[in-house]
This record gives sequence, structure tokens and C-alpha cells, in this order.
Amino acid sequence: MRVVTEFTSPHLLALTNSGSERALKGEVVAAGLGWRPGFQAKGMVAFKAGDGVGEFGREALRERLAFARRVSLFAGKAGTREGAEEVVRGVGGAGMVVHHLGLEKGRLVGMGGGVGEGRLADGAVVGTVIEVGPEDYWTGLHWHGRLLSPDPGGASGVEMPEDAPSRAWLKLEEAVRFFDLRFRAEDVVVELGCAPGGVILALLRRGVSVIGVDPARLAPVVMASAVAEMPGAGVGGTVPWVVHCRKPAALVSKRDLGGRATWFMSDMNQSPAVAITECRRCIGMCPSIRSAVITLKLTDFAEASAQGEWLAAMRAMGFRTVRLQQMAVHHRELALVGLERSEK
Ligand SMILES: C[S@@+](CC[C@H](N)C(=O)[O-])C[C@H]1O[C@@H](n2cnc3c(N)ncnc32)[C@H](O)[C@@H]1O
Repeated sequence: MRVVTEFTSPHLLALTNSGSERALKGEVVAAGLGWRPGFQAKGMVAFKAGDGVGEFGREALRERLAFARRVSLFAGKAGTREGAEEVVRGVGGAGMVVHHLGLEKGRLVGMGGGVGEGRLADGAVVGTVIEVGPEDYWTGLHWHGRLLSPDPGGASGVEMPEDAPSRAWLKLEEAVRFFDLRFRAEDVVVELGCAPGGVILALLRRGVSVIGVDPARLAPVVMASAVAEMPGAGVGGTVPWVVHCRKPAALVSKRDLGGRATWFMSDMNQSPAVAITECRRCIGMCPSIRSAVITLKLTDFAEASAQGEWLAAMRAMGFRTVRLQQMAVHHRELALVGLERSEK
């Protein structure tokens, strides 16, 4: 089967959360990419190449923009969904995966699902068809790769179970799909700002144990797995547990965190600067931590102009791969992800 490996286009399509379009355009300017914003619709900004940039090619898709859930090379337009699918398949080949997106309650979401489909292979050609308006379908094409969401427009469409104590359940599950995060039964996650326990519930159901730090109470559904002290490695079989360390992050000691945490998460409602300071201190006490997902809460998207500092802070903590990403489930939030932390 023919697999297209190169394609150039005068336009890029960037998909973002509704309300983040301005932040995305500001980020492109700040990065000095020379992309000029053109047509814009809810959740989508089309960019054209500025003077001297010429056409966009595959390398333009390697730019990592926190506010873009998906960037693809514009492949053409059509008046119907079927016509648009034909347009993009004409460029990417008959065997390509094609995602369809449309507006639902003002947000661009996948139509016909995406969740439940297998993982996409690295290099797989993916077409995206976006219903921009009645009889107005825009199409784009990109290649799947590491740390790119496999879901339509980067929106997993995962639905929260009724017993989830908070929307944070969705944030964890979406991050797992977006970044292809993998957990092992022996993993222990430290989470700062863990109450009422949406993330903990998602982790417990994935078979992973948690040391949760928060002065606030945990919901009964997660307290059902609570133990007073962290069991020794290999003790207690494969039943995941949670230890609730009921204090603010600043009072946490090395002893509270045990000696074998492998993952780190934070979801505190604090400014990015405070959150990163607390995270740095706790991660510094756990040499065995390899991966981290830190939710940064913004009062204004303009705060994201500090993203270079946040990414540098993650690198300084020892994470070799770092990413800042707004996910579909986020409101005024961003995920700061660190992977492959090396021994210090
Ligand atoms: C958005 S909620 C967290 C949701 C949680 N991750 C979940 O899965 O349900 C924010 C939490 O951060 C906690 N928090 C704020 N500042 C904190 C601090 N300095 N140390 C620990 N927790 C903090 C609050 O008590 C609150 O429960």
C-alpha cells in the first residue's frame, strides 16, 4: 500500500480548544515561526507561510505548541464530509486513517469515536476532516509520532464514570492516551493536590498505588483503598493502595514520600511558580521518579509566555523529554509533562 511520506502545503491547520485561539496565535508569534494567521473558526486556526518561509512541509509539524492539540498540513476543502474524505485520501492514500471532527456544544470533538481504536503506528498517515460550517469541510494531514495524540484532533472523547470524585479523572485518562503513558503494577505515584481523588481513582483502577498529598478529604470511593502506611515492596500482593498524606506540599518530608515512588503528579490549585517550586522540592526527594505530569493552573493564558522557564525547570529536575500541552479536557490549565528522568 502506498504510504505518503512527504507533502507540502501553503497552509497549516492548528486545532485548539475553543477560547484558546488567541493564545495559540500569541504562542506562534512568540516562537518566531513566521507563520501568519489566516482563516479562523472555533477551535481552528489556519496559518500561511510568511515571507521567505515558502510552503509548509513535514518539518513544520515538528514544532511543539502548547495550545495546539493537532497541527496538520492543509490538504484541501469540500462541501460534504464524503467529498472531504476523498480529498484527503487523494493526498494521503486510500489506506490512511481519517478522523472526522465537528462542533458539539461549541467544542471541536471527534465524530464516530476514536477511543477503543488501537494505537497508531509511528509514521502512520492520518487525515483530519473538520466540519467548519454547513457545507464547509477543511482537511489536513499529519504523520503520527511520539507524544502526539492518536485521537481525532487530540480529543479522546473518554467519558467519566459516575463514581469519579472529580473531573481530574478525565485529565489523567486523557493524558494517558495523549502521551501514551504506561504504568506497571509496581509503580507508585506521588500526587500533590490529590483531593477529592479523581486521579487516584483512575490510577487505582489501572492497578497503580498512590501516595496522595492534600490537606483536604478524599472521597469514600478512594478511601476504600486507603492504608495507613505504604506497604513494603512486594508486600500486599497486587492490590493497589493509597496513602493519604494529609498536609500541604510544603510540609512533606522525604519520609512521607517513601523510598520508591516512580511517578509524580501534581494538580494543586496554586500559581505555576508555586506549583513548580513545590514539585521541584518533592521530586528532588525521590531519586526513583522517572516521569511526571504536572497540571499548571493559569488565571490568564498570557502567563504561558513563561513556558520556556517551566520547560527548563523540568529539564533541570532531570527529565530528558519535556512537553507543555493543553489537552481537550483542560480549561485554564496546561499539562507540563516530564519523561525519562535520569538518575542524579
Ligand atoms: C483541582 S483540586 C485537585 C483534584 C485532584 N487531583 C483529584 O484528582 O480529584 C486542587 C487541590 O489542590 C489542593 N492544594 C492546594 N494547595 C495545596 C498545597 N500547597 N499542598 C497540597 N495540596 C494543595 C487543594 O486542597 C485541592 O484539593
